[in-house]
Parts: sequence; structure tokens; C-alpha cells
Amino acid sequence: ELPKTKISHRDALLNAESSIAKIKDSVNKDLLRLKYHFMAPAYWINDPNGLIFYKGEYHLFYQHYPYAPQWGSMHWGHAKSKDLVHWEHLPIALAPSESYDLDEKGGCYSGSAVDDNGVMSLLYTGTIIRDGKVIQTQNLATSKDGITFEKYEGNPVISSPPEDGSSNFRDPKVWKHEDTWYMIIGSSKDEKGNALLYKSPDLRQWDYVGVLAESDGTMGTMWECPDFFPLGDRYVLMFSPMGMGDRKAIYLIGDMDYETGKFEWDVIGDVDTGFEYYAPQSFLDGKGRRVIIAWLNAWDWMPWFKNFGPTSKNNWCGAMSTPRTVELDVDGRLKFPPVEELKVLRREHYHHANTKVVPGVPLLPEYVGSDCLEIKVELQLAGCQAEEVGFVLRASKDREQQTLLSYNLQSKELRFDRSKSDGWSGGIQTVRLEASETLQLHIFIDTCVIEVYADNYRVALTNNIYPDPSSVHLDLYAVGDIVNLNTLDIWKL
Ligand code: FRU
Repeated sequence: ELPKTKISHRDALLNAESSIAKIKDSVNKDLLRLKYHFMAPAYWINDPNGLIFYKGEYHLFYQHYPYAPQWGSMHWGHAKSKDLVHWEHLPIALAPSESYDLDEKGGCYSGSAVDDNGVMSLLYTGTIIRDGKVIQTQNLATSKDGITFEKYEGNPVISSPPEDGSSNFRDPKVWKHEDTWYMIIGSSKDEKGNALLYKSPDLRQWDYVGVLAESDGTMGTMWECPDFFPLGDRYVLMFSPMGMGDRKAIYLIGDMDYETGKFEWDVIGDVDTGFEYYAPQSFLDGKGRRVIIAWLNAWDWMPWFKNFGPTSKNNWCGAMSTPRTVELDVDGRLKFPPVEELKVLRREHYHHANTKVVPGVPLLPEYVGSDCLEIKVELQLAGCQAEEVGFVLRASKDREQQTLLSYNLQSKELRFDRSKSDGWSGGIQTVRLEASETLQLHIFIDTCVIEVYADNYRVALTNNIYPDPSSVHLDLYAVGDIVNLNTLDIWKL
């Protein structure tokens, strides 16, 4: 049980740890557990927080409720990694304990981490509800060893939003430019999402600069988890808008003027167009790469709308995407290739080249895959008369259960169809690809997660499915005419 009255931070952390310790072994036995995507040891996870490369290791914090497989008063779970693939769980870093963050419907909301001269410094939103009003403040917690965190006694470091009618005030993302710390906070005004800019000499005293960027009325009513970073000679603003329909992770590319505190953008795109990819956070790593990790879920199907999802009966819910890098493409748009470290997961390899996908003839008839695969394919489109080509993924032997990833050569649409995936998730998603001589897809399957890349990593599509563990059949099919297959590589992971 979450304590209802004031408690020391240390005791709040110990309570949370013992709740997880009691259940984690039984959770680990669940067949739906993912094999190489990051999950909490048990119970609930949402946004990635405080991503940082610190003293030679990657740290990942995350929104965590350590008492049930559902959203509840927010803690910060914690893990670290040497290679972005294998993660070691660490003690929970933040628990609600203070007047500004102890609340059953609030807690230690999302935020970010910076290295302040060797001191790992977390900036997060404290959320409490008083007289039905949500009160959100920005707070600091620091650590010298990167494991044990103390909340700053001068918290909150920002105690209210600017007095201009802003409501919602959360998810601080902090960075250093020259000798000054900057922070953006997700907010909204007049039903339009925006990102507010602050600056500070020391992470403790903050001055409001102004609105960095805001919706033009078509980009959502609130910008959750904004993130802002330089890339090449440009800047990128990412955020997860509320009230923008299916679009859940947007990026804007533009130029930053630190004199005026304004970001002028000219390119808009989607970080991922899948059903379940939310609140990506970025960080710069030791190799100079800009890496992002996102929560593999979305609020739309969350408990208060529908139910907790198939894994919650096994006492866990939620996971993180595999890490992707953010790169500027030649035409000034973004691409998001998965980090190359993932190659260490590759085991048995199957290679096909220069063959044909013939309608009605399964190319991989006896292929029993695995619930963990990496697939790379290149198909010839130029001069091809077929209507459609695609993969049958995670299929049962009789194909009663199957997930279809297909490409329509006329409409140039990539289509992810999970209407027969599991009898639970449902839904069809399409994304239009650019005209090209070939279709190249890169797919990662891990138990309940499918991450798909197309258009040279400019398109990403991430969805959850919950088929039976025995549904591991795979095929490649064509409709209407033969499709030439240049290469197909399949790795068991
Ligand atoms: C985004 C979000 C954040 C908030 C956190 C609470 O998924 O709603 O805006 O800080 O989750 O858990």
C-alpha cells in the first residue's frame, strides 16, 4: 500500500522495494514477458525518464507504480546498462514523500537527468491534488553515486506556471547551452499545447524566458514530455500531444534563437506512427549519438478507457522501445535507425536471395520462427504487377491467429493489420511510403512487441500484439502477380 501520510523518502523507497521483491519472481515466469525490451521487474511502467550517459554507463529511469499493474502514484524506477541492450535493475530512485509530490493521484512525474559536474541531477514534476485542483511544480533530486538520490531541501525549484493562463505544467527536460542550464516544460494555453522555456545558472534558481513553441491549433491541446536538442546545424523539438488523434509522437525541425528564446520550425513529422509509441526521450551518448527510447504503450487503451491489457493479470504492464538513434537525413528530415548494439542479439541466421514470391505458394512453408526475430527484406517494386506483398507474422499453424504487415503497390501504403492478432488488440494502421524501386523493411519481433522500419528508417511503426506463445509461424506472400525478392535475412534473437 502506498503510504497516505508523510513519510521519509528512505522509508517510501524501502516500502516500494519490498512490494516489488515479493512479486518479481512470479512475474518473471510469465510467458508474455519480453525477451530483449526493457520492462520493470514487476507492476506498472510508463514514460522513460532521466536518460543519461553518466560515468561510462547508460542510465534509464522510468515512471513506475510499484504496488499494482496499473497507473498509480508515480515513482521513478531505475536501471543501468553498458551497451543499451542488457539492463541491470537498480533500487527505485524516487518515491512520493513530500508535500509537493505525495499524493495518491500524483507523485513524482516525468522529467530528465543532467550531469552537473559529476553530480547526477534529476529534474521532475511533483504532482498533488488539492481541492480538486492539480498542482504541478518542478523539483530537483541529486546523487553523487548515481544510485541514491536526495530531494533538494529548497524544492520546488519552480513553484508555479507563468501567470498568463497556462495550465498543465510538467515533464521538465534540461540541457546546457554554453554556461547556462535551460529547461522546457510541457504546458497548454487556450487549449493549445506548448513548450515553456526557463533558464538557470545552477539548476536551483530558474527564470522564465517565454514560450519556446506552441501549437498552431492543429497540434494538440497539451504537449506531454517535450524534448529539445541540437542536431547538425538545426534543432529538434519532440513531444507527445494530447488530442491529436492517432499522432502520438511528433517532431519539429527548426532553428533556435537563444536571444529571443524562440524556436522557428519548418518541418513536421512523426517519430513513430504505431499504436503504441509514446513520450520518447532523448540523450547524447558517449559516442556522440542522439539516442531515443519511448514507452511502448499509449493512454488510449488504458484502464480508465478499456482495461489493463493481457499482461496485467500477470502483474506487469508496459515496456520500453529498443533504443534508436536520431539522424538528419539528406533532405533535412529525420530518420531513426535502431542502435547497432542490437546486433549482439542475433543467433541463427537464414538468408534468401534472388528468388520469387509467387502468389498462392508460401515462400517459407515450413518456417517455424520464434517469438523473437529480426527480419530484413528487400523486394523489387519497379515493373512489378502485383497488387500486394507482405508478411504473415506470429501466425498459428492454421493461420486463425496472424498479424499482417503488407504493402499495397497501388496506394503505396504499408498496412499493419492486427485484427486477427490475438482476439484482443485489433485495429488496422496504414502509412504511406515514398515511391521507390524497392521495398525495404526492417522488423523486430519480441513476444508482444513488433517494431517496423521502412523508408530507410524515416518511417517507424510500433505495435503490441498478444498472440498465443505457440503462434510462431512466419510467411512472405504476394497477391496478383510474382514479386521478385532481392534479399531476405532472418535472425532468431
Ligand atoms: C505522459 C505523462 C506525463 C506525466 C506522466 C505521469 O505519459 O502523462 O505527462 O508526467 O505521464 O505518469
